[in-house]
Amino acid sequence: MEPQHELDVEQAATEGLFTRIDHVGIAVDDLDRAKEFYARTFGLQTVHEEQNAEQGVREAMLAVGDGTSQVQLLAPLGPDSPIARFLERRGAGMQHIAYAVRDIDTVCSVMRSRGVRLLFEEPRPGTAGSRINFIHPKDGGGVLIELVERANRPH
Ligand code: CO
Repeated sequence: MEPQHELDVEQAATEGLFTRIDHVGIAVDDLDRAKEFYARTFGLQTVHEEQNAEQGVREAMLAVGDGTSQVQLLAPLGPDSPIARFLERRGAGMQHIAYAVRDIDTVCSVMRSRGVRLLFEEPRPGTAGSRINFIHPKDGGGVLIELVERANRPH
């Protein structure tokens, strides 16, 4: 480990790891119907939409207020998708909470040093060019926690 990196880890560990709640992930059966429901009922508009084959999802990001916080609607791409399994077990509803981090590599190091298990060895591509990882629910107080380092947004 390089000295500079060690310093960053120490800094992150003392100054706070999570900078804000980035989004809440909600599993839905039908993305288009869910988008329509959220717009009509809550006035929440879709600001971004994409398909992530690696994560097995089709997803829409809905801005809440100025869009600093968002709602992420997740629909399964196929039966093997983690979202498909979630829907089978629990039905539509809240699936994860995502915290924004400045430097995901540092935060992952700090988490591991505290005995927290992460789902991916290395961060993977998330929404809109972000880098993401997940904390195992058993090490997250029963909550699936996503860590997200945004590509192009002030933290
Ligand atoms: Co998410």
